Amino acid sequence: MSIPRLQHLWIQAHQRLLQGLALVLPFPRSKLLVGAGSSRQMANELRSRGWRHPLLVTDRTLMQLELPRPLQDALDAAGMSYALYDRVPENPSLTSVEAGLQHFRSQGCDSLIAVGGGSVIDCAKGIAARAGNPWLPLSRMEGLFRVLLPPRPLACIPTTAGSGSEASIAAVFTDPHANRKLAIADLKLIPRVVAIDPLLMLGLPPAVTAAGGMDALTHAVESYIGRGGTPFSRRKAIAALRRIAVWLPHAYRRGDDQAARLQMALAANDAGQAFSRTNVGYAHAIAHGLGCHYGIPHGLANAMALPFVLRWSKPACIEQLASLARALELGGTDETAPLLAERFIAWIEALNRQLGIPATAASLRSGDIPAISRSVLQEAHPGYPVPRLLDQASCEALLRRLLPAAAIIEAATDQH
Ligand SMILES: [Fe+2]
Repeated sequence: MSIPRLQHLWIQAHQRLLQGLALVLPFPRSKLLVGAGSSRQMANELRSRGWRHPLLVTDRTLMQLELPRPLQDALDAAGMSYALYDRVPENPSLTSVEAGLQHFRSQGCDSLIAVGGGSVIDCAKGIAARAGNPWLPLSRMEGLFRVLLPPRPLACIPTTAGSGSEASIAAVFTDPHANRKLAIADLKLIPRVVAIDPLLMLGLPPAVTAAGGMDALTHAVESYIGRGGTPFSRRKAIAALRRIAVWLPHAYRRGDDQAARLQMALAANDAGQAFSRTNVGYAHAIAHGLGCHYGIPHGLANAMALPFVLRWSKPACIEQLASLARALELGGTDETAPLLAERFIAWIEALNRQLGIPATAASLRSGDIPAISRSVLQEAHPGYPVPRLLDQASCEALLRRLLPAAAIIEAATDQH
């Protein structure tokens, strides 16, 4: 069943409105501390801003790996007190935000420092938003620009290169009662200070590096091909993509390569700034569905979904895909846009193979596809600026391409 004409027009009007907003809204810019050891500089930076007693938000694994240690030592050396909340789970839920908020209040904190990946940073954003809006539950902040009062000030030290959460206006949580993701997005959620310290990323295992890097790549690509692009977002997306193309294979092969880690962290930050202006696309909606149903890591699910989403979208964004191919010098200068667009998609597939990312999702069950498709369309319409709309049938067909070969044969047999 195709999308009714009226709904189609409504989605397009919504996309245009968001594009207009992205051009005129005053996006705040975080102060960036960049380079090896920059996480230590955070203490003096925060003290000079008058932050008194921050809540350090992180998780148990990172504490065991002692990644917050340089910051903790620097806070001690600067004579700055802080409280610790290290219970952020792998996928932060509304419950874990409330637990962190309790800690923030009971410890008399006035600000927050997140040290971790996207989950930790999102949880810290949730705590900051709740602390600034005590009567407003996160469920009532869901959507765009619904964080009423300023959150408590937040600083971030990312320990992975992928989510770009340290640069974005968004935070995503699981709602344990509804088995779904809940996203809040507001300019006020952009952190005040960010330290990009490659030393904290040297020990990441290759699979985590690959998934994070492909998440950042998906942010850049979906931002670039979406209808909501601005000159700024397109510049940032291209900058991110060029860095990823050169440095992700290095960071994957040699995790201790400091230069590769720094370049990937900068790429993730650029991609985060790009998608904050435009939002993402269907690959993300599918990744959220696969994450909710099967626990497939976000970056991995994005990487698997992206080539299929781009092949679907191609008729409506050939020029954009060709521009991305040209930015990476993937073809000859005299090649046609359709050929360049195909080269770009093939390049992503080859990069996936190079990073050991499977082409299909082994845990995907054909019986779940209708429900996942419904959640994809519900998430993406009307807020994602996708160049070509999916309806229920085309979304199911697209998801079936992610089934492993054995499951496709099984599904075909069932239908006969
Ligand atoms: Fe993402």
